[in-house]
Amino acid sequence: MRLLLLLFYTFSAISCTSSTEDQRVECLPGTDKNSCTALGCIWEPTESPAPNCYLPPQYGYSTLSDLYEIENGMAIDLEKSTSISMFDGDFEKVTVSFVHMSENLLRIKMEPVDEKRYQVPITILGSEEPPTTMNYEYQITKDPVFSFKVVRKSTGTVLFDTSLGGLTLADQFLQLAVQLSSSNIYGFGEQEQPSLRHDMNWKTWGMFARDHAPEGDANLYGVHPYYMNVEPDGNTHGVLFLNSNAQEVTMTPAPGLVYRTIGGILDIYIYLGPTPEKVVGQYTASLGRYEPPPFWALGFHLCRWGYNSVANMKAAWQRTLDSGIPFDVQWGDIDYMDRALDFTYNPTDFQELPAFVDELHEKGMKFVPILDPCISTGEPAGSYPPFDEGNTQDIWVKDASGNPLMAKVWPADYCHFPDFFTSKTEDWWLNQLANFYSTIKYDGIWIDMNEPANFVTGSVDGCQENKWNNPPYKPKTDGGDSLLDKTICMDATQSEGIHYDVHSMFGWSEARATNRALREITGKRPFIISRSTFVGSGKYTGHWLGDNWSEWDNMHFSIIGMLQFNHFGMPLVGADICGFIGNTTEELCARWHQLGAFYPFSRNHNLLESIDQDPGVWGLDSIVARAARNALKTKYALLPYLYSLFYKSYNEGGTVARPLWHEFVTDQEALGIDTQFLLGPAVMVSPILDQGKTKRNVYLPGGENTVWYDAYTFERFSAAMKILEVTSDLNNPEDSTPLHIRGGYILPVQDPAGNTAQQRETRTLNLFGYLDSEEKGTGEVYLDDGESMDLTLYTHVKFMVNPGKMDFEVVQDAYTDAMNWKIDYIRLAGISQNIDKVEINGEAAIFTYNPEYQILDILPENFMITGANSITWTSSASHQQSP
Ligand code: NOJ
Repeated sequence: MRLLLLLFYTFSAISCTSSTEDQRVECLPGTDKNSCTALGCIWEPTESPAPNCYLPPQYGYSTLSDLYEIENGMAIDLEKSTSISMFDGDFEKVTVSFVHMSENLLRIKMEPVDEKRYQVPITILGSEEPPTTMNYEYQITKDPVFSFKVVRKSTGTVLFDTSLGGLTLADQFLQLAVQLSSSNIYGFGEQEQPSLRHDMNWKTWGMFARDHAPEGDANLYGVHPYYMNVEPDGNTHGVLFLNSNAQEVTMTPAPGLVYRTIGGILDIYIYLGPTPEKVVGQYTASLGRYEPPPFWALGFHLCRWGYNSVANMKAAWQRTLDSGIPFDVQWGDIDYMDRALDFTYNPTDFQELPAFVDELHEKGMKFVPILDPCISTGEPAGSYPPFDEGNTQDIWVKDASGNPLMAKVWPADYCHFPDFFTSKTEDWWLNQLANFYSTIKYDGIWIDMNEPANFVTGSVDGCQENKWNNPPYKPKTDGGDSLLDKTICMDATQSEGIHYDVHSMFGWSEARATNRALREITGKRPFIISRSTFVGSGKYTGHWLGDNWSEWDNMHFSIIGMLQFNHFGMPLVGADICGFIGNTTEELCARWHQLGAFYPFSRNHNLLESIDQDPGVWGLDSIVARAARNALKTKYALLPYLYSLFYKSYNEGGTVARPLWHEFVTDQEALGIDTQFLLGPAVMVSPILDQGKTKRNVYLPGGENTVWYDAYTFERFSAAMKILEVTSDLNNPEDSTPLHIRGGYILPVQDPAGNTAQQRETRTLNLFGYLDSEEKGTGEVYLDDGESMDLTLYTHVKFMVNPGKMDFEVVQDAYTDAMNWKIDYIRLAGISQNIDKVEINGEAAIFTYNPEYQILDILPENFMITGANSITWTSSASHQQSP
């Protein structure tokens, strides 16, 4: 029997077409009274930020049919209900289909009848078999116009309700207004949002890939039209608008949102969760997940634009090593190149670069150079293969006349952009990267300026006047009234279509090509950091948050950006530590290292004109060197935990860095917190973010039974106290980032070493258990060689503590070297009874018990991580009871 027939849907009379200001959907954005009323819209000036001119209730689409069955879903036919047309090109007849992608994923697609429109060339995966049950249902309303609601079946909560009206489907203006389940909404990127939770007071955010330093509400490098909404009972769902045209979203007090885009179709995906982590897991499963990065990628990275010579680069590197700072990766910015030409290095100032890279490798360290996509056209014929071969292969983005589009970026001469959507361009890129690898044995690639960024508007030859370069409506994106500002003509052509449609996917396509190339060239798991990203980029690359400022508030914003990119399925993310633009100060740089050490991707990077800011330059005993050393040592100690989080996120879904509410979704306070964050479920980071401060309040999320431990002192706090004041004084040589560990978790850790290669060589883990109020805890570790492409070759061990015992379960043992890894030391905090006997696999073991701190320290001998192990302990109290 077709289970679709069981689908629940109703036809109900419209409950309300609200005339309250909060529920208005603007008509003809920015219009005046005369044009408003002439068009048939309602003009009612208001003091609030609500629009003065709004669409009448009968505006939208009327139904031409009832819902009818289609493959894996239902559809309904509509026709435009009024003659009001804001921007022409309205689709008179459209079909809305509801596709059951999986039990937790519903797709809603709105397309004109009889017209093929551009659709984002990304496949969103649902379940392999059509779902037999769905956790959602949808309800259609016909009167006064078509609208629909998506409901969570288990609770009846309305997740997505379009009865606010305003549905517009036109050639270059598509709009949907949505009533949300609550105003706890997070997402939409990329911009520098000042709070993780959205401001619902008519705040508009543009989305269109752009080379723009994070600032105000400017649209930045990437495009992620995706949000998460926490429902009143704590269930959470996610929504993706799969669209790559220039677009915007306005958050409204309804609470709602008005989504607008200027091309493609409305193609909406609703992920049911119901936990925040499950939402992210479903989102990334449908797009492709971020693979665990190479282990070294989680170490410390050092970069600057403007070393200007290998001698300066080496000096900064040496200072960092001399300061005893754990350190894995040296980077090269465009100044390593010969005249900013990709795939070259400066033959005089960077003559020694290949040798330096070899030296790094000898020390177990890595090197990552930058590449820009625009290839210089100005070298003598036959002398610059990237250009010559690109010409032969005909790989360039074309202008409206069909000639390679001429742009200007860093090289002195004009340049062409490769069209990374084609396989011949991917092959060409692979060739160039392979040739470059034969000169410099790089370990990863940094792809920059791929919005694509252009220093002239549109092209060196200008752009034509047409509907692509001058669309009738421009979303709230930076660049005045032009979409061409800082990029290429919108009527340029690429194999996937007109640049107007695929602009924001340029970085996505370059990351895909780079990922493929690095796999083939190095035979290892690729490490890529891209500036421009799009929905699904997490399958190919990590991201850094771009050209931030050396300003105090930028530290706070970086936490928000990091958490958002985790929502977007891009967990390897971080901001430039100490800030990129402007001169940092010693205090800011020290504090930023305390925060940035806990970004999944920790890199100090700096602008050409700014003062040196590597942690060693301030002096061995400076507060910066000390802060970097202390915080990074803690990060390196936590690397087995952090790396395991990446594995878990790849295998099971979910984030690495996450907001407090992901773990405590019914804690109302936690929903608004973005100056603290969690790494996984257990490690809470609460950095000092303000100048001159040595104390801050830490919010302890959770209920009365939740326990938090100071990570360093093991002091225990109940979440019932809610606010804990912590001290972090940079003048204290031991000072480090305030960290708290959640009771109930056992963390796999290692003694920190100078770099990850040295650290892994010890093949030794320690386990730090922070037990909950019932003296229980769980934890796990994933071990592999840290670089193989085969992601099945790992060993996964779980640890469980129950009162009196600790058990180990080897879930999978496919990393051959895991048999050589042992556990040297186990510390269990939160054991209340005096312990006087510990046995490992039935044999007496060495231990100490500290009754004051309630800490049991166990020193096992030859305790192999994959052995069939069990530890028991007994207290004098329990002895006395036993006969
Ligand atoms: C822009 C990037 O955002 C920045 O990090 C880099 O230093 C410059 N380009 C120079 O390559």
